[in-house]
Amino acid sequence: MVEVDPAFVQEQEHRPKFSIIEAKGIPEIDLSPIFHHDVPNPSAIDALVKEIGSACKEWGFFQVTNHGVPLSLRQRLEEASRLFFAQSLEEKKKVARDEINPTGYYDTEHTKNVRDWKEVFDLLVKDPTLVPLNSDEHDDRVIQWSNPSPQYPSHFRALIEEYIKEMEKLAFKLLELIALSLGVEAKRFEEFFKDQTSFIRFNRYPPCPSPHLALGVGRHKDAGALTILAQDDVGGLEVKRKTDQEWVPVKPTQDAYIINVCDIIQVWSNDAYESVEHRATVNTEKERFSIPFFFNPGHDAEIKPLEELINKQNPSKYMPYKWGKFFVHRLHSNFKKQDVENLQIYHYKLP
Ligand code: OGA
Ligand code: NI
Repeated sequence: MVEVDPAFVQEQEHRPKFSIIEAKGIPEIDLSPIFHHDVPNPSAIDALVKEIGSACKEWGFFQVTNHGVPLSLRQRLEEASRLFFAQSLEEKKKVARDEINPTGYYDTEHTKNVRDWKEVFDLLVKDPTLVPLNSDEHDDRVIQWSNPSPQYPSHFRALIEEYIKEMEKLAFKLLELIALSLGVEAKRFEEFFKDQTSFIRFNRYPPCPSPHLALGVGRHKDAGALTILAQDDVGGLEVKRKTDQEWVPVKPTQDAYIINVCDIIQVWSNDAYESVEHRATVNTEKERFSIPFFFNPGHDAEIKPLEELINKQNPSKYMPYKWGKFFVHRLHSNFKKQDVENLQIYHYKLP
C-alpha cells in the first residue's frame, strides 16, 4: 500500500467507507415553474415552494434541474478550469493566495485541521470586496480584497465573470423560494446581499494513492447562506443524511446543480432548516473537478433569527453575530493546522 503524508490522514472515525448505499438520495427539484412568466401558474409555484421547504427540512441538500443556467457556459468554464489546473505548479503559484488576499490558487487548505487532498482557485464576486481587517468585534477597520488575474487560459477571468452573473441570478431565485417556504416575504433576504462577500471556487481533486485514509475535503458545513455546486461526472460528494447520520453519496446528474442551505439560513430560520455536514471522497484513478459558488451576504450583515419567525413558542436560539467577523475568523483558521476547533455557529447558540 502506498502511504500518504500524515497531514492528510483522517482520524479513523472520519475515514470514508465506500460502501454502496442503496437507500434514497437527496431530492431532485425541477425549477421550470419559475421560468414561465408569460403564463404564471401560481399552483405550480406553490408546489415548488413546498418541495423546496421539505428538501431544506429533511436534507438541507437538493439538486435542481431546469435552472436557467446555459449548459454551454458551464461546459466552457469546466474546460477552462481543467486548462488552468493543468499548468505547472510554478505557473499556478503566480496567482497564489496569501494571508492578506485570500483569493487565487492554493493547495494546502485544511478542513478541521486535516489537510485536504485538493487544489483550489478562488475568485470574489465583487472586486474589490470589503471585509473586516480582523475578527476582533471591537475593531471597526475594514480592508479590501481583490481578485488576481490568471493569464492562462486567456479567457478564464471573463468566462468566470459571465458565469458568476448566472450564479447570482439563480441564488436570488432560490433564496426567494426559500423565503416563501419559511412563510416570509419573497425578497426578505435581498438587502443582506448588497455588498456581498460571495466567491466562486474551482476545486481539483487529484487521484490519491490512499483514498481510504484521506478526503478531498473533510467533513464540514458551509458557513455562508447558500452554496450552488457544479460537480463533474466522477462523483465523490457525500452528504450526512439527517434521518440516520449515514454518509450518502450524491450521484452526479448531468446539468444539475447541487444546492445546500448553509449556516446563515440555519440561523435565519431559527434551526427550521439546518446546515448539513458534507465531504468529498477521492479515488485512485480519476481526478475530479467541482465548482462551488458560495453565496454570502455583505460583511456588515448582522445575522440572527428572522423576527417574523420568533415568538413565545419559538424563541430565538441564537445571539446575533456579524457575518464579516465570522467569515474572516473562519478563513484564517483554514490556512493552517491549529490546535483548537475553528469557529462554528453553535458558539452563538443561546442556552
Ligand atoms: C466545498 C465543498 C464539495 C465538492 O468546497 O465546500 O463542499 O464536491 N465541496 O467539491
Ligand atoms: Ni462545502
